[in-house]
Amino acid sequence: MATSYKELGLVNTREMFKKAVDGGYAIPAFNFNTMEQMQAIVQAAVETKSPVIMQVSKGARQYANATILRYMAQGAVAYAKELGCPNPQIVLHLDHGDSFELCKSCIDTGFSSVMIDGSALPYEENIALTKKVVEYAHAHDVTVEAELGVLAGVEDEVASEVSHYTKPEEVIDFATRTGCDSLAISIGTSHGAYKFKPEQCTRDPKTGKLVPPPLAFDVLHAIEKKLPGFPIVLHGSSSVPQEEVDTINKYGGKLPDAIGIPEEQLREAAKSAVCKINIDSDSRLAMTAAIRKVFAEKPGEFDPRKYLGPARDNMKKLYMHKIVNVLGSNDKL
Ligand code: G3H
Ligand code: 13P
Ligand code: ZN
Repeated sequence: MATSYKELGLVNTREMFKKAVDGGYAIPAFNFNTMEQMQAIVQAAVETKSPVIMQVSKGARQYANATILRYMAQGAVAYAKELGCPNPQIVLHLDHGDSFELCKSCIDTGFSSVMIDGSALPYEENIALTKKVVEYAHAHDVTVEAELGVLAGVEDEVASEVSHYTKPEEVIDFATRTGCDSLAISIGTSHGAYKFKPEQCTRDPKTGKLVPPPLAFDVLHAIEKKLPGFPIVLHGSSSVPQEEVDTINKYGGKLPDAIGIPEEQLREAAKSAVCKINIDSDSRLAMTAAIRKVFAEKPGEFDPRKYLGPARDNMKKLYMHKIVNVLGSNDKL
């Protein structure tokens, strides 16, 4: 029997995005696969009074199990209330859905929002697939994120060597014909901890650190002009915090020249029609750094709670920092 997200206490993105666009902030969309990530996301959202999107990729759903994830989302709502938030605004979102069948399965098992990523398809095929998902989703009051333009790097099972910025001249036609509720665009972000090759960057003469090329704000502004007030989504928005990378490298890891999107650029984007910012890699880094530190400093430790606990705390700190200092979604509940 199908489960509606409403029975689980979740919400879709419609109201949330409208308020975020009007208020000049962005909703955090944090990927999760594990209980510790889920706990850290809920703790951070409750303590900062932020709405939050908990998102799950196809791979995460396979890893964690679809049934378990559904109960974790339900548990997240109950946990938020237990922590003192009477009306949590939590979305369970499918990240990078690659087929109608996957989106339908998520909608039928309690997701309140889905992404159909047809960005690698020819334009007309992307429209046809997105429209089909929108029709099914809207019949269940589930909101749909679509994508136009291709990000460099690996998008789950959609891979691209180079990025192709979204073409502003296509967005009105695409949004109108598909009926999608939000649009992920390509303006220079990409997935993972290596967003730019060193040769694409310059070096800060003072620190010697790599400085990435700026995002294409001109493309973003041109899209905003075409679709005033329409919710825009940024994928690949981890900043790859240097201190986490340094900790990982110090304790036996190997992440040379890892580089992300500077936070000031995300701060600027959050003030525009960008109302959802996707962060996965930073949480992975925060978790790995904390675990490596415990392993290195306490080689005799083998109780998982003793390293997953610090990992959870470090992720919570990261999530709170993003909410308060980058996206500005705090104090909105
Ligand atoms: O955009 C991709 C997300 O970071 C999810 O990655 O497919 O490894 O779960 P994943
Ligand atoms: P990052 O790899 O930059 O965290 O991007 C995550 C993302 O876009 C998930 O869809
Ligand atoms: Zn993504």
